[in-house]
Amino acid sequence: MSLDQSFFPHPWSTASWNGVGELDNEYVLTIRESDGKIDAFALYLLNPLENLAHLLKLLVIPEMRGAGLGVKLLATSFIELDRRGFIKKYLEVAVSNHCAIETYKKAGMCEINRIKKFYSSGEDAVVMMSSN
Ligand SMILES: CC(C)(COP(=O)(O)OP(=O)(O)OC[C@H]1O[C@@H](n2cnc3c(N)ncnc32)[C@H](O)[C@@H]1OP(=O)(O)O)[C@@H](O)C(=O)NCCC(=O)NCCS
Repeated sequence: MSLDQSFFPHPWSTASWNGVGELDNEYVLTIRESDGKIDAFALYLLNPLENLAHLLKLLVIPEMRGAGLGVKLLATSFIELDRRGFIKKYLEVAVSNHCAIETYKKAGMCEINRIKKFYSSGEDAVVMMSSN
């Protein structure tokens, strides 16, 4: 939660983070650590009825960015999701977040839609889905 609130462009409130785990929803959290410190994480909400995984958060700490970690973390989490039968993955990302959009493309995701004014700032979102 503190990494999200320090470094994410659209962070969740503390109440939203506290809600994770309180409902019956199932999540997958993939983290990468070094020296006991989290460098990067990906958080998915699972929809078992449709074998669908919704990527809610992907974050690499600022000092580790640009070294391929984002793509590697996605690849690692996709292997685990595929193993559990969640073949389809999708996400929303701000149209201005070119770095994240490139990261998702390198991980094999494609744009399938756009949602107008998706974010509270009024910014549009690109919807991307895994192509496999
Ligand atoms: C988006 C994010 C996870 C990418 O992680 P990363 O480890 O820096 O990404 P990678 O090093 O794997 O880079 C993947 C691709 O993104 C692009 N990219 C990386 N850094 C970039 C930069 N500074 N400017 C433009 N494009 C960049 C490149 O195309 C890169 O591939 P390449 O190195 O083969 O050319 C990271 O920037 C981040 O945590 N951002 C803040 C949180 C966020 O916006 N999350 C996504 C919201 S949906």
